[in-house]
Amino acid sequence: MSLEIKLSYPSRKRALIRKNILDWYDVKGRDSLPWKGKDIYKIWISEVMLQQTQVQSVIPYYKMFMDKYPNIESLFKASLDDIMKIWSGLGFYRRAENIYKASIRIQQEFNQEFPKNYNDVLSLPGIGRTTASAIITFSGNGRYSILDGNVKRFLSRFLSVEMHHSQLNNLWELSQYLLSDTRPSDFIQAYMDIGSLICKKSKPLCDECPVNQQCNSYPYTPLNIPKKTKKIKVIEKNIWSLVIVNNEGQFYLEKISYDNLWRGLYSSPVFHNKSDLMSWTESHKIEECVESNIWKFTHKLSHIKFTFNTILCNIKYHKKVSLSDDNWYNLSDIDFGIPKYQDKIFNQYKSIYGYN
Ligand code: ADE
Repeated sequence: MSLEIKLSYPSRKRALIRKNILDWYDVKGRDSLPWKGKDIYKIWISEVMLQQTQVQSVIPYYKMFMDKYPNIESLFKASLDDIMKIWSGLGFYRRAENIYKASIRIQQEFNQEFPKNYNDVLSLPGIGRTTASAIITFSGNGRYSILDGNVKRFLSRFLSVEMHHSQLNNLWELSQYLLSDTRPSDFIQAYMDIGSLICKKSKPLCDECPVNQQCNSYPYTPLNIPKKTKKIKVIEKNIWSLVIVNNEGQFYLEKISYDNLWRGLYSSPVFHNKSDLMSWTESHKIEECVESNIWKFTHKLSHIKFTFNTILCNIKYHKKVSLSDDNWYNLSDIDFGIPKYQDKIFNQYKSIYGYN
């Protein structure tokens, strides 16, 4: 149930909140991040990278991306494989696919220029309300507020309401209501910075918060900080991976085309269980090359723990087996994206067998 909260602070109170937040930002805000500036293309790429990934992990990927594709014209020349290659290791690969799809739409529908209108930006693949607001506001093309996870936590504590989807409308309204008229771009960055640096999930630094005097949860005690209602459950999954190598030291890799976490990347064939793996080796006439050892390792994502069971298959005469000739790659020639688990497999292979 959503409780409508009418936001009508005395205007002096709202002005004070805005001033306190901006004064804090001018001294303590993060203003040296590499995507700072008004270039809407750069802001777009950075905001998509930052959607599910922390600032420190994004920085090297953002720099690599900008070295290769410094402007939107250069991005138009990139294939999906090219983008996936740069994204390799950053995770949540659907984001890279969406950048590729958006770049095609920008060429076809927006006259090769990144759109500057909020609704057009929101219509692009992979862009939700917060990302569209950040892109438009940071680039100086409008005044839209944001509500990402950190800001949701900050504002729900500020109002002292549960951080629950029934409160989303109220929190969006508060976010927009407080937004500075004169410095919206700095203000939304300040929201993000306070959310992640001060109003932290555990042990928030309330005494350093510029708006603690206006905050309904201050002074902090564990009881008056609204808790997240659902705990993330970690799912455990088993994967069977068949590492096929031929007599020239080339690996058999397939592009993942079905809908899973790694779609668009290249991988050794993977299966849900050992019997599917064995059936596959029989249908491709390679069952005699399968080794008996199983190498196990775990690969953790935020909400899934995979156990990989890796089986090696050494093909002596690869012309005789029914595997496509087009799928063999030397490690030094890999020019596309691979999942992190595949990197672990290659490293393990190299440490056991060596590889030049
Ligand atoms: N998270 C999403 N966008 C961000 C930004 N511009 N700076 C810091 N964290 C972010």
